[in-house]
Amino acid sequence: MSHHVIIACDFASREETLRFLAPFEAAQGEKPWLKIGMELYYAEGPQMVRELKEKGYHIFLDLKLHDIPNTVKKDMRVLKDLDVDMVNLHASGGIAMMRAAVEGLTREDGTRPILIAVTQLTSTSQEVMEQELLIEKPLDKVVMHYAKNAREAGLDGVVCSPLEAGKVHEVCGADFVTVTPGVRFAGGEVGDQVRVTTPQRAGEIGSDYLVMGRPITGSEDPVEAYARATREFRQGAEKR
Ligand code: C5P
Repeated sequence: MSHHVIIACDFASREETLRFLAPFEAAQGEKPWLKIGMELYYAEGPQMVRELKEKGYHIFLDLKLHDIPNTVKKDMRVLKDLDVDMVNLHASGGIAMMRAAVEGLTREDGTRPILIAVTQLTSTSQEVMEQELLIEKPLDKVVMHYAKNAREAGLDGVVCSPLEAGKVHEVCGADFVTVTPGVRFAGGEVGDQVRVTTPQRAGEIGSDYLVMGRPITGSEDPVEAYARATREFRQGAEKR
């Protein structure tokens, strides 16, 4: 079954992470996908990933690599041995860097984790792009161009807003994966996210994976919140 909800484990320690996951251990059913970002990875290291993989979780390791091609290739080789399910990099590193990443990540049998690119961070505005980065094209054009570069380099998809997922599929193809944060339950707290949509609507527009943090991690019943997000997301996706 595709269309997975990935829980952003934005925690600072192993202890906190395992405390959050305890009810998922007790519950029957599908083991969630978890996103491990820099905070948890830098705090606990690769052992945290190994431990969660052993428990049966799928892992999206969100380390956003960005370096010279040879270095990224070697970094990816290490991540390949960690056996994560999804990993990412910055498309702004260029096509040669992305190709090197694919090479480093590919296992001997030709398989590899899903590799996706960050196009422009959602914290980057048109103004920042123009004034600081000297990129004068419209932001949405830049995002789509970086997505095309990622596709050309052989990557599987991009991280983007759920509101952009349909357009990414139009430009890069139906099989090009969209992983989308910025998702909130109808009537839920928005927090610091700006352009948000619901799990159902994200599915309708064309997201392939949702990343949800606080609506699940901050819920009184995270197992139920995760089940609800998955249910609504898949209902939306079926309508496409
Ligand atoms: O708690 P919340 O649902 O906002 O968490 C979203 C997760 O997705 C966080 O880990 C955040 O860093 C990440 N993310 C994002 N927007 C991006 C890229 C990543 O919210 N453009």
